[in-house]
Amino acid sequence: IKEGGENLRSIICCIMGHVDSGKTKLLDCIRGTNVQEGEAGGITQQIGATYFPAKNIRERTRELKADAKLKVPGLLVIDTPGHESFTNLRSRGSSLCDLAILVVDIKHGLEPQTIESLNLLRMRNTEFIIALNKVDRLYGWKTCKNAPIVKAMKQQNKDVTNEFNIRLTDIITQFKEQGLNTEIYYKNKEMGETFSIVPTSAKSGEGVPDLLLWLVQWAQKTMVEKLTYVDEVQCTVLEVKVIEGHGTTIDVVLVNGELHEGDQIVVCGLQGPIVTTIRALLTPHPMKELRVKGTYLHHKEIKAAQGIKITAQGLEHAIAGTSLHVVGPDDDIEAMKESAMEDMESVLSRIDKSGEGVYVQTSTLGSLEALLEFLKTPAVNIPVSEGYNEGWSDAREEKEYATILAFDVKVTTEARELADEMGVKIFCADIIYQLFNQFQVYIENIKE
Ligand code: GTP
Ligand code: MG
Ligand code: NA
Repeated sequence: IKEGGENLRSIICCIMGHVDSGKTKLLDCIRGTNVQEGEAGGITQQIGATYFPAKNIRERTRELKADAKLKVPGLLVIDTPGHESFTNLRSRGSSLCDLAILVVDIKHGLEPQTIESLNLLRMRNTEFIIALNKVDRLYGWKTCKNAPIVKAMKQQNKDVTNEFNIRLTDIITQFKEQGLNTEIYYKNKEMGETFSIVPTSAKSGEGVPDLLLWLVQWAQKTMVEKLTYVDEVQCTVLEVKVIEGHGTTIDVVLVNGELHEGDQIVVCGLQGPIVTTIRALLTPHPMKELRVKGTYLHHKEIKAAQGIKITAQGLEHAIAGTSLHVVGPDDDIEAMKESAMEDMESVLSRIDKSGEGVYVQTSTLGSLEALLEFLKTPAVNIPVSEGYNEGWSDAREEKEYATILAFDVKVTTEARELADEMGVKIFCADIIYQLFNQFQVYIENIKE
């Protein structure tokens, strides 16, 4: 039990917004990492999670002298892609979180995926704060590394302040057109009805302390009930992916309860319920990204809220977006299997497939969903083969079907040679829209 007598779990926060507004870079700024620079094409194509312990948040917000009494153990931030192909992952992230950060590029204002994200959040009545990012790009901005925003603004000349005010007013108007009242956070007297805007720079850190403090204080003030820890396990599968040396693993967000090594679990699978035993509970180090390959910490047990990689046998067909259940001593496994499969219906529509079509293979289930959506669009409209994501055995009659779309996976020389022999064309890319473009050009050519 923490100070104040409340037993709170960590806050789960999702970061959303248009592509390249600076979501990952903002997290890099808080973590002191360079995840963004390592991303293919400079875009995020997976959903990720990072844990920030309370002590780091306290350090980072010290200058605000808010005497931030942190009652939560930490903050778990879920990073989502902004690219239009990944609506599925934005939806998954926003459905999991207690509150969110909506990032807007101050030079661009509201963009299509800003509005899409906004609507996803409103649909679920999720509170959010707006990070008005890239303030350092205002002409003549004077850097005040990691400073609170009011302090940083005081250092700026008249021209910068003017440009800032013009852009801010314009963006407030754009939000109003979406039916939303917004105000710069330190002037916002109607929190809850009027959404707060925190100006930030992910490059030099101005406003980042304000963003962190607002998140934690707002959550602690208005969400005590939601954040009160409960023993019953509440856990969602974020991603399913193969990790060298670990086989197929699942990345999960544990919202409540505890997981232990050796726990028997039930997960929803494409070919029926999966009953397996947790082999290892892995997390990255605090302030490191779960989706980035690195060294993992092994845990005998782990308490919510956390982002965790689980290794276990038989996870190949697990479905992201569904719940993970832990089998207790008095539980009826058959009933649990049934309830695990109840999630199936809601996700089935995303992964339906026809008998004959192209083969697709992807590194994560999230990107598979994005690829399947693309193949369904009217401009392409190509079915996917039954054996999707598993490989292929025979070439197809139709030319457009004799293809394999490989996203972010290695294609071995043998596979290439075999494909050549069989007249099967392999498209391979690690940036999703490049794969789309290659295939679309090919389809257009053979249709002519
Ligand atoms: P997706 O995940 O692909 O949707 O993009 P994102 O929102 O995560 O943006 P990302 O962090 O990839 O940043 C996009 C580009 O903007 C990168 O080149 C960053 O270096 C740059 N950038 C992000 N934030 C800032 C900022 O505050 N100031 C400046 N000058 N550049 C920024
Ligand atoms: Mg990103
Ligand atoms: Na980006």
